[in-house]
Amino acid sequence: MGKCDDVEQRIQSLCDEINQHNQNYYQYDAPQIPDSDYDELLRELQALEFQCPDLIDRESPTQRVGSAPLDSFEQVEHQVPMLSLDNAFSDEEFEAFNKRVTDKLGLADDIEYLVEPKLDGLAISLMYENGVLVRAATRGDGRSGENVTENVKTIGSIPLRLKGEFFPERIEVRGEVFMPLAGFDQLNMNAEVSGEKPFVNPRNAAAGSLRQLDSKITATRPLAFYAYGIGVLEGWILPSTQKELFECLDNWGFPVCDQLTVVTDMKNCHLAYETLANKRSLLPYEIDGVVYKVNDYSLQNELGFVSRAPRWAIARKFPAQEKMTKVNGIDVQVGRTGAITPVARLEPVFVGGVTVTNVTLHNEDEMRRKDVRVGDTVIVRRAGDVIPEIVSVVMEKRVKNTVMFSFPEQCPACGSTVERSEGEAIARCPAGLFCSAQVKESIKHFSSRKAMDVDGLGDKIVEQLVASDLVKTPADLYGLTKEELSGLERMADKSANNLLEALNDSKATTLTKFLYALGIREVGEVTAGSLARFFGSLEALQLASVEDLEKVPDVGPIVAQHVIAFFELEHNCEVINDLRERGVNWSDTCIEPQGVQVLSDKIFVLTGALSAMTRDQAKAELQALGAKVTGSVSKKTDYLVAGEDSGSKLKKALSLGVTVLAEQDLLELLEKPKG
Ligand code: IVH
Repeated sequence: MGKCDDVEQRIQSLCDEINQHNQNYYQYDAPQIPDSDYDELLRELQALEFQCPDLIDRESPTQRVGSAPLDSFEQVEHQVPMLSLDNAFSDEEFEAFNKRVTDKLGLADDIEYLVEPKLDGLAISLMYENGVLVRAATRGDGRSGENVTENVKTIGSIPLRLKGEFFPERIEVRGEVFMPLAGFDQLNMNAEVSGEKPFVNPRNAAAGSLRQLDSKITATRPLAFYAYGIGVLEGWILPSTQKELFECLDNWGFPVCDQLTVVTDMKNCHLAYETLANKRSLLPYEIDGVVYKVNDYSLQNELGFVSRAPRWAIARKFPAQEKMTKVNGIDVQVGRTGAITPVARLEPVFVGGVTVTNVTLHNEDEMRRKDVRVGDTVIVRRAGDVIPEIVSVVMEKRVKNTVMFSFPEQCPACGSTVERSEGEAIARCPAGLFCSAQVKESIKHFSSRKAMDVDGLGDKIVEQLVASDLVKTPADLYGLTKEELSGLERMADKSANNLLEALNDSKATTLTKFLYALGIREVGEVTAGSLARFFGSLEALQLASVEDLEKVPDVGPIVAQHVIAFFELEHNCEVINDLRERGVNWSDTCIEPQGVQVLSDKIFVLTGALSAMTRDQAKAELQALGAKVTGSVSKKTDYLVAGEDSGSKLKKALSLGVTVLAEQDLLELLEKPKG
């Protein structure tokens, strides 16, 4: 105790000193000490905290290393919806926006806008209570997002505690989490060295890093943050302009982008856009346009919102990027459902933030229309999230003796004659699971995360397993032995063991995931869920007629036909039987034939640890009975299922008078749904 007293002061001064360095580094981009000195301070603090754990402050800089992994993210409702922005793609569209603004305000003159870069990352909401970060959430659908507090705490530039003494009692700061380009390059270089799949662009890398269930992984990712607005505000008077808000945010310790300009007329609006467009390639992070915001808050209020976007702001997007490159080859790929797709193999080209090496040419008609040939120079375009495309061939650069690509008449994988139904653009190989390409793709699909979720079964392994005839159907995966796996390229003993374990773990699934994994045409995750909930068991679904199927929400005649055709194929039923014999199982305690949804409209929240099943299994079973399972307790919640160690949710449920069920009650409910 005496020793701890001695160190208390030192801990406090180290925390202050490190926080100041964090700010110099992240907020002002002006580090005052070398990294090695910073590391030394941090190590000293860690050592002292280790000696006297009682003195560890929740907001200590050492607490940014991540904590125990979560099972899933809790849903968080946004008190003030997180809106989106309307887009303008030309000067004219921006001027039309400006006219709408001035007309609505009844102003004849130009008004003041704040012009900010449109950062290419993901929006985040940070809630501070009495100056302390209490919750961070993603935007989600704008009304509710995911609670990513543990992950956000690992981002060095986000203050855990607001600076100074004067700040609102409660404030929700909003901004963008992004990955600076240097960090992105380094991350991908490391991925390459360790044989992992690189991220396609900094935005995906930022989103992937922020949505890790294990915050220790997020802590290793080079994420950054810029604040650009607020949501909830209590105990404070809003400044009069957006620009002044940025000054407050800066004073409270938030990093704000240094590329902001206030403009007062149209000419300068355009100029601010041009200036940022010219600077774009020099900035250390990606931006995809500029955002114009009416600077004056009272005018913003007067303008209000339309559906999902404010009337007082607009994003002026940079045009899609286009680059020239060469076509090195054209291949045809055979997809999981036999669709034959021509793909151009390109000389790698960096466009719109990603390196493009392959571009789909979609189908035969599209190929003919564009007449892309091997050896051609083409213009490749990529806009935002849109998949890259070949805009056109640069005819002046076409070399002599190129030949028009002829679409194959035979499947390149199995040699079957390709079929193209009348009126359909897509040509298909009809051989189904007798075609090795389709087998490979269906195994990849079967084991993917949203299907059976076999961790560690990468594409390269699937390709080897199918090529060596070890796997012909998904059921063969569950018969693989350690010896067989160890014989594969780049498969050490440990990886073979891990894969066997992952296969074993994947056997316990849900009906929804299993149906999705089967790869029935047009049955995606959502439809699989609807089918599982409606029929309650695989047997009932297998017996269903087209009419039965059409009663299912979002199932029309085409999907119904695909389902019937799938179960009519004897081979498919054999694979299903083999899978079940090899131990693939899902809990069928929720069988409730012909779509009777006993819990429909009931809202459940699950909290604490359950012993008979995981929370995900319980969630799936409740959903199968029609219940809605949400992440947070509110007045609308009908039941809170409280497992071991239930904490704040249980308290909240009790205070709101929500019915609380113990695990035993839940089990009874699931086994006796009508009770
Ligand atoms: S303001 C209602 N400012 O763009 C105001 N958003 O397309 C909405 N974004 O979800 C946000 N940079 O993720 C604002 N300077 C900026 C921004 C920005 C990037 C993102 C943000 C938002 C999306 C809307």
